Amino acid sequence: MIVGFGALNLDKIYRVDKIPGKDEEGFVKSLEMHPGGSAANTIVGLARLGIQTGFIGKVGSDEEGRILLADFERESVDTSAIIKSDGRSGSAMIFVDDSGHRAILVDPGVNDTIRFEEINLDAVKNARLIHLTSFICKNGLESFESQKKIATTIRAEISFDPGMIYVEKGMKELETIIKNSAIFLPNRSEIELLMDLDYKDACREIISMGCKIVAVKMGEKGCYVVDSSEEHEIPAFSSKAVDTTGAGDAFNAGFLYGYIKELNLKDCGKLGNWVASKNIQKVGARTGLPRKKELEEFLSS
Ligand SMILES: Nc1ncnc2c1ncn2[C@@H]1O[C@H](COP(=O)(O)OP(=O)(O)OP(=O)(O)O)[C@@H](O)[C@H]1O
Ligand SMILES: [Mg+2]
Repeated sequence: MIVGFGALNLDKIYRVDKIPGKDEEGFVKSLEMHPGGSAANTIVGLARLGIQTGFIGKVGSDEEGRILLADFERESVDTSAIIKSDGRSGSAMIFVDDSGHRAILVDPGVNDTIRFEEINLDAVKNARLIHLTSFICKNGLESFESQKKIATTIRAEISFDPGMIYVEKGMKELETIIKNSAIFLPNRSEIELLMDLDYKDACREIISMGCKIVAVKMGEKGCYVVDSSEEHEIPAFSSKAVDTTGAGDAFNAGFLYGYIKELNLKDCGKLGNWVASKNIQKVGARTGLPRKKELEEFLSS
């Protein structure tokens, strides 16, 4: 079982006649809602590939919370470690006008308030891997502190995609999680900013800290993967990029699938690239995530 632990958000995409300025009014033409959150996207990716999955997170007692939970259930993700509390669920209000310009308001809601003591550890005791991604940390540091405690006290291995939000906290804050991770999954600009080094030197440094594997996402160039004995630069699959939202999360799903199936390092990177290349061919963070059957066809080709 692979368990995700990160923010849960409902993205609400409002198509509007104009993005109003101060003291102005605009009108909504349509509304679309998409469940999101980086770890949640990766976990759904793994569930579609047939992996048993669960999630540690928090939702509010509102309609958004019900939508987020129902979506996980539809995707066969175990929700028994998702805390339901008073307050608002995390959401992002995304306003898009006819020319494609955007204005975004993020509401962390209850996401940042997960105390370690309230996590249902029994529900995740069969986890082989716990995948951590960032919380916004605007309404408190409790969720971030709980992630550090999970990384240092739980038997399961840890994978960690910091995203820019955590990278901006700096190494001193992230050290505890990185040292206790089996797999670190940044993109190139994140690892270079975090370490103030070229990505290859940065990877070697992270490995010397005790992390087993680093997989650096390189956009259309593919990925760079390293462990203590090997390194590989793996080119991306050539595919028509329609929407790269969630490309990194999809990569993580493919990579982690390979890892728990005990594929070699190079094949894990290749699978990450493959799942990402499928995902970017469709609009939305999850629409293009491939299913088990497609993966089996790819693996046997
Ligand atoms: N134009 C592209 N063609 C083919 N594959 C791509 C392209 N862009 C991205 N990918 C694939 O998606 C993976 C992840 O993309 P990227 O490196 O942009 O990650 P990221 O910056 O973490 O993304 P995100 O913004 O989703 O967090 C890449 O490693 C690569 O495999
Ligand atoms: Mg990313």
